[in-house]
Amino acid sequence: MAGERVLAFLHMRHALVAAAILVTPCIAMAAPALIPMPASYVPGARPITLTGRVEVTWPRVRSPLLDRVVGRFERRLDVLSGRRYAPEYGPVVPLRLQIDCTAKDPHMLSVEMREHYHLQVDDHGVLLTADGPAGVIRGLATLLQLVDHTADGPVLDAAVIDDRPRFAWRGLLIDVSRHFMTPATLERQIDAMELAKLNVLHLHLSDGQSFRVESHRYPRIQKIAARGEYYTQGQIRALVAYAAERAIRVVPEFDTPGHSFALLTAYPQYAAQTPDAMDQRQVYVDAFDPTRPETYVFLRHLYHEMARLFPDTYFHAGGDEVRGWQWTQNPRIAAYMKAHGYADPKALQAAFTARIARMLEHDGKVMMGWDEVSEAPVPQGVMVEAWRGQKYAASAAAAGHPVVVSAGYYLDLLQPAAEHYRVDPTDTLSDGQKKQVIGAEAALWTETVTEEMLDARLWPRTAAIAERFWSLQDVRDPDSLSARLPVMQDELQVLGNRAQANTYRMAARLAPADPQPLLTLLSVTGPVRNYARNHQAWQYLHKVPITQQQFDTPADIAAPDSFAAQAFNRDVRACLAGQHALKTDLRARLVAWRDNDAAMVRLVAQYPVLQPLLPVSAELAALARAGLAALDGGGHGWRDSARHAITLAHQQIDASATTKAAHTMAQPPADLVQEIVPGIEALMASGRKT
Ligand code: ACM
Repeated sequence: MAGERVLAFLHMRHALVAAAILVTPCIAMAAPALIPMPASYVPGARPITLTGRVEVTWPRVRSPLLDRVVGRFERRLDVLSGRRYAPEYGPVVPLRLQIDCTAKDPHMLSVEMREHYHLQVDDHGVLLTADGPAGVIRGLATLLQLVDHTADGPVLDAAVIDDRPRFAWRGLLIDVSRHFMTPATLERQIDAMELAKLNVLHLHLSDGQSFRVESHRYPRIQKIAARGEYYTQGQIRALVAYAAERAIRVVPEFDTPGHSFALLTAYPQYAAQTPDAMDQRQVYVDAFDPTRPETYVFLRHLYHEMARLFPDTYFHAGGDEVRGWQWTQNPRIAAYMKAHGYADPKALQAAFTARIARMLEHDGKVMMGWDEVSEAPVPQGVMVEAWRGQKYAASAAAAGHPVVVSAGYYLDLLQPAAEHYRVDPTDTLSDGQKKQVIGAEAALWTETVTEEMLDARLWPRTAAIAERFWSLQDVRDPDSLSARLPVMQDELQVLGNRAQANTYRMAARLAPADPQPLLTLLSVTGPVRNYARNHQAWQYLHKVPITQQQFDTPADIAAPDSFAAQAFNRDVRACLAGQHALKTDLRARLVAWRDNDAAMVRLVAQYPVLQPLLPVSAELAALARAGLAALDGGGHGWRDSARHAITLAHQQIDASATTKAAHTMAQPPADLVQEIVPGIEALMASGRKT
């Protein structure tokens, strides 16, 4: 997690990937770690040295936007390659970069935006061909991933690449209602999205906890509903422009009729049940009254004002998790439903949805809603976002709706990247239904994610999901992904993402004198999964609002993907498969994890707040001892304690293996699970064979 590993990767980015992918490294050719994997990639012969300026030529379309795009590319190239500082590597030769943008794209920043590009890197330099600015932007993101470091200095790997996305809509939802994220932090995520070729930032701007955009028409929003933190309209315009520079659309979401507690505390006259601002239990339930004409006047003006801030055609109006009792337990609403023949709350919600969709259409927008909106018939043009499961994608598609799939890509479940990577947005759909799927979105809800944690909760996992959305359907080898993802993560960190920096900062705040033992422990443990952390937050909810909870515990620092543990588990497999040279290094890692426990004991004496980590650290040491004994054919009786350590680790993993378990079972100390269990088990099973 700390800086040394970044440097290690930078010096051997590509070779490392080759060694990890190929079983016999003696024939390994260095392959660049491209994420997302291009549609077609053919390696070239000789790399180009990177020593001098970039000389750009434009045979066809050139624009101020494209000039800025190239400026950004050059700055990133400098940072990644360090070429400014490498004159000692030889004569300074300019890098010839010809950008042949064959047309202005009339569909730029729409779902039809042209993102195809062709890249040729050889002795003559770089030729990038695209039929629109978005293609240029995507091609330059790939070009950065061809930077390699050799003994002769930084180079660009030669290649011929032809590439286009599988899905037109490749989104990332960030919830800024539960925890506010400053514009600078969002810009940083947009930068990473550009590198991962995502093209839709879905901002979840309102929820029970807050409404985050300034309104001139309804100032009680910023006074009350924003809970003190919101974006001015100027900040929203700047953010949209920042994303547009990177060929990324911003789709806003203002969630109604449910998830509206914050808005309704500011404007209670439109509520189905009178909100009690003191009662935090209402945060997830309070809904608009869909039977009052004034509700629609309010929402028309509010949505109109918000719609003008976001140029995108699509406008997400929420529609999820409406609690029917909010309506049926209001006698006036119940009487209205009876009088107008609405059999149930779903039918009433469909009428509400249809009116909102019409309103938005007047503003030139296409309404998007969560899959609940399609549970009763609504206008076919409404775009449905399937989040509760692929069966909702299937039913919405069958009903003729365009569909975006986020089921399978909820990052707040804190699952490792490989879990999301396994899921295909259309696997279970018929051919007819597949045609309705415009794309997919990763989603990070931030009940338990602070601004400081955002980068690490998003990256690198979002890059793995980005590959799922961009690359061909048959690109799905988890071993290839796990070899490339650490390289992508390092690229992101070097280019300004703060996942690793904030991880270090949070650890150093808990143990300022010496964060290293803590970082070592957290590098091979992961946070409990499937909302086991949120479960704890929900218990607090009745007493302390999320915004006042502390999120700086070790489980908030530990990452869902432990690269160190994954590398260990992988190397154990390789060692057992015959690469005996790995044994020395495996032993060194086990010794370090075993001995880290003594350092943790000293650290806890100095910082008692870390006390809950003692059993976690002792368990890691026990697993490491088991691994060492298995590796070296340990002495008498080691197997009993080894089995005990494995059994305990499995129980702890099982306690959050499903959402049901996470809600019903006691969670392990410090909400952490051990990630090296597969490697230790493999060593134990192998007996003395190593
Ligand atoms: C959702 O997760 N409630 C859309």
